[in-house]
Amino acid sequence: MQASRRSICNRKGMCMFKSLLCFTLAALLPCAAALADAKAPIVIKFSHVVGEDTPKGKGALLFKQLVEERLEGAVVVEVYPNSTLFGDADEVGALREGKVQMLAPSLSKFEAYTKQLQVFDLPFLFDDLEAVKRFQKRDKSRELLHSMSAQGIYGLAYWNNGMKQLTANRELRKPEDAKGLVFRIQPSSVLEAQFGQLGAKTVKMPFAEAFKALQAGTIQGTEGPWSNIASQKVDTVQPFISELNHGSLSYMLVSSKTFWASIPYQVRSELEAIIEEVSYSVSKDAETLNNNARAGIIAAGKTQVITLTAQERAAWRTALSPVWKTYEAEIGADVLRAAQAVNRR
Ligand code: LMR
Repeated sequence: MQASRRSICNRKGMCMFKSLLCFTLAALLPCAAALADAKAPIVIKFSHVVGEDTPKGKGALLFKQLVEERLEGAVVVEVYPNSTLFGDADEVGALREGKVQMLAPSLSKFEAYTKQLQVFDLPFLFDDLEAVKRFQKRDKSRELLHSMSAQGIYGLAYWNNGMKQLTANRELRKPEDAKGLVFRIQPSSVLEAQFGQLGAKTVKMPFAEAFKALQAGTIQGTEGPWSNIASQKVDTVQPFISELNHGSLSYMLVSSKTFWASIPYQVRSELEAIIEEVSYSVSKDAETLNNNARAGIIAAGKTQVITLTAQERAAWRTALSPVWKTYEAEIGADVLRAAQAVNRR
């Protein structure tokens, strides 16, 4: 009797265990199915060569912040500043090989992929940064965002840092003052021709190496916007900065064509909306950052800032504008004309 009761109990216990198991599994199933469906977040490695307290550095961080607020769980952005992941020499290659997913190299660094973007390097072509921005909104300039499509590079937006100044170990007031000096330049033959026009020499050198080369004396000058001069402490090793504003340092925010196309449509649309917002903010903040950097350099007093009269500046323009003609055919006469049309003279 007892034995049979025990066996009923055992059967009941077994039954209860089975129904508990079934209940638990049933509860877990949707969760497991969801887990199987859930994709790992898309990872965007954004590599760049400048400090975080620069227009590009801040733009990259704002992009990360907005993506993480609005696409939480779907997209993760990792920002690598100061050439910590890739530098000038290898970043575009890394993008094409899928090792990084976003970059914002200066337009001077795309020469190997398109000649048309060289229009942005032509000295004194644009009267000021506002003219550069106006050109970037025109159709001709928008078309250039896709000028490297055949090489798998997808242009997302233009970002601007600021107008470039000349730093040197001697006072540069007249174009002939630069003669014989060796300048570090970005990898652009227009910039090579620009300094060649002055009788100066050039070395194409990654951004990360310029400060050491100035310290070592292997180069005697550089060009760049105030924010880069300040963040790299160039004013501590160059006794003179001529405020020439002869060209802009502008960037193209790029991704790889295959990577961008692989992002699901809705996520991609949200990313593109974020990029539009960030580009606006980079543009707005760049002026303040450059003004503050200029003021900081003057206050630190390690270098002498040379401001030029309109007449002195005009002499540099006259000396350098023959470079436009040299590059007209490579860039395209239509692109050059569209760029010149934005000046309000
Ligand atoms: C340079 O090489 O001087 C600049 O392109 C660096 C940068 O990205 O601002």
